[in-house]
Amino acid sequence: MKHIIDTALFDRAALEALFEKTDLMRRNPGTPLTGKILATLFYEPSTRTRLSFEAAMLKLGGQVITTENAKEFSSAAKGETIEDTVRVVGAYADALVIRHPEEGTLARAAAASPVPVINAGDGAGQHPTQALLDLYTIRTEAGGIEDKIIAILGDLHYGRAARSLAYLLAEYPGVRLILASPEGLAMNEDITSRLREKGIQYEETTDIAYALAQADVAYQTRIQKERFSDEAEYLRFKGSFNITADLAAQMKSDAIILHPLPRVDEISPAVDVLPQARYFTQAHYGLFVRMALLTSMLT
Ligand code: NCD
Repeated sequence: MKHIIDTALFDRAALEALFEKTDLMRRNPGTPLTGKILATLFYEPSTRTRLSFEAAMLKLGGQVITTENAKEFSSAAKGETIEDTVRVVGAYADALVIRHPEEGTLARAAAASPVPVINAGDGAGQHPTQALLDLYTIRTEAGGIEDKIIAILGDLHYGRAARSLAYLLAEYPGVRLILASPEGLAMNEDITSRLREKGIQYEETTDIAYALAQADVAYQTRIQKERFSDEAEYLRFKGSFNITADLAAQMKSDAIILHPLPRVDEISPAVDVLPQARYFTQAHYGLFVRMALLTSMLT
């Protein structure tokens, strides 16, 4: 049984195999999951991750059961543990996709589940499938990953998408990373120590203009409002690290701009029409990457 809980599950060979399978899914997926059921349990809001997993399952011939807003509408609201919930739902479905606000809950779910569990984001921990689709987008839209200058921007402290992407980029020794964040939201040591271990060249900066001007790939992220215990603290950062049309105009002409979405104000809508803007393409690729993942896990 293959759970996808930790970004560390994927090495270079596994990534390449998944991306080749994703290319295939874009051309000719077939319906290999006919008769299979996927359950989605989201204890935090989601648009892309939940709906792209569900669409992926349907396109592959499978079916979906779900509890929208699991925090409120599942038995978690009555005090049921995650272990009991997955034991039961795991008897109804062939795989579970779970998002939860607390780091560590996904590992508990996997330990109790009779079927594979996919981490769709656990607090400020990890979001492995987002990092997979991010890498696939860089590979496809930037003409490869190796040797690129990749700036990861925004809330690197709480942002699980940024954290998981940086972790996986350590599998590509030719990349150069620029970790750009407002003062106080820098990447945590658990990720930077991994970069050093793997010999990845990286620098940290608070200068967004510098990071954007250098980048072949600019990966912008949202300040993670829901992780701040204090609204005033969040407001201190909000709007302080935005990509405006003026800043985007200083970028390399063949650079690309990505964002896991949703955005609030950290990429101006005026940037959407620029050739560098690829975040909606990125969200679309998420569907195919998740199709490839589900096929690998369930066939
Ligand atoms: C991200 C998440 O939930 O971590 N969204 C997503 O899955 N595409 C990023 C975010 O919410 O800022």
